[in-house]
Amino acid sequence: MAILITGGAGYLGSHTAVRLLEKENDVIVMDNFTRSSAEQINRITAAAGRAPEVEDGDVKTKEDLERVFQKYNVEAVIHFAGLKAAGESVEKPLLYYRENLQMTLCLLEIMEDYQVKKLIFSSSAAVYGNCESMPVSESTPKNPINPYGHSKAMIEQMLEDIAQADPAWQITALRYFNPVGAHPSIAVGENPAGTPANLMPILLEAAAGERDAVDVYGTDYDTKDGTGIRDYIHVMDLADGHIAAAASQKHGFHVYNLGTGRGTTVLELINMVERVSGKHIAWEAKARRPGDPAENWADASRAERELGWKASCTLEEMCLHAWKWKEEMHKNTQKGE
Ligand SMILES: NC(=O)c1ccc[n+]([C@@H]2O[C@H](COP(=O)([O-])OP(=O)(O)OC[C@H]3O[C@@H](n4cnc5c(N)ncnc54)[C@H](O)[C@@H]3O)[C@@H](O)[C@H]2O)c1
Repeated sequence: MAILITGGAGYLGSHTAVRLLEKENDVIVMDNFTRSSAEQINRITAAAGRAPEVEDGDVKTKEDLERVFQKYNVEAVIHFAGLKAAGESVEKPLLYYRENLQMTLCLLEIMEDYQVKKLIFSSSAAVYGNCESMPVSESTPKNPINPYGHSKAMIEQMLEDIAQADPAWQITALRYFNPVGAHPSIAVGENPAGTPANLMPILLEAAAGERDAVDVYGTDYDTKDGTGIRDYIHVMDLADGHIAAAASQKHGFHVYNLGTGRGTTVLELINMVERVSGKHIAWEAKARRPGDPAENWADASRAERELGWKASCTLEEMCLHAWKWKEEMHKNTQKGE
C-alpha cells in the first residue's frame, strides 16, 4: 500500500514526501515537472535517506493516471499538483481553471474507478479572500478575490458534493496560510521557478545579494508597524499536518486551516531574516497593492482539536532553515552547478 503524491516534486509536495518516507511509508511522486525540476527527487532522497517511486506524468491526462493506478496499490492520494500564483491567475484565468479543475476531475474519476477513496487536497487561505475579522476560522465565509482562489473554492465544492453522495469517501481539504522554510537537513527546500512572487524568497534573494532592495507594499495599515500581517508556517509543520490528515479515519468532507495562529508583519519578517542571515536587507516603502488585506492569520484550533496537529516551529526556525537553504543554493549557482 502506498501514498500517491501529485505534484510531489514541488515545494510542499517534496517536503511532505520526505516526511512520509521518514515515517516508513511507501511514496509515489507523480509530477510533470512543469513547475519543478527532476533534481528535486534526488534532494528528497538525500533528505529522507531513501527514494520515492517516481512517475513522470500529467495529472490531467487519464492515461498517465491509469498507468500509475495500475502499477501501484494506491491507498491514499495527497493532491498538491496545481498552479498557485494568484497574480498569474488574474492574467490567465482560463489556464488556472483548466489546470486546477481538470486535474482534480481526472484524479477523482480514476480514484473512483480504483475504489481509492482517501484524498487530502491542497487548498488555500485564498478561498477566504479579504476577511473583516481576525483570526480566520474554517467557518469564515468563502469569498475568493482571484481566479486562483476561486479554483480552490470550486474544487472544495466538488469534493464536498462527492463526499455527500458517497459516504465511503474520506476527503480532507487543508487550507494553507503562508508556508516558508526548508527541511532542517537543508537537503531540500523551495526552488521558485523564475522571479519569485512570495515575500520570503524575495527577502532571501535580497539577503544573498541577488537583488538590491525589497518593495514593501503598504506601510500605513492599521497594524503595529504599519505593514501587512500574515501567518507564516514552517513547511515541515505543514508536512506534519498532512501526516495527521492521512492518519485520520473520518469519513465525509472536512476542512482545516494550517497556520500557526500568529501574525507577523512584513517588517518583523525582514528583521528576522536579517538576524538569522547576518545580512542587511534594504527595503522601500510602496503604495498598498489593490486586494492586499491588512492582516490575514489563522485560527488553527480545529486541526488541533480534531487531528491532534499543531504547528510547533518558531519564526526564527522558519527563517533560519529558509536562509541556510538559500545560502546553499546561492553557493551552487556561483559554482555554476
Ligand atoms: N506554496 C504556497 O504558498 C501555497 C499556499 C497555499 C496553497 N498552496 C497549494 O499547494 C499546492 C502545492 O504548492 P507548491 O508551493 O508546492 O507549488 P509548486 O509549484 O512548487 O508545486 C506544484 C507541483 O505540481 C506540478 N504540476 C503542475 N501541474 C501538473 C500536472 N498537470 N501534472 C502533474 N504535476 C503537475 C509542478 O510541476 C510542481 O512540481 C498547490 O496546489 C498550491 O495551490 C500553496
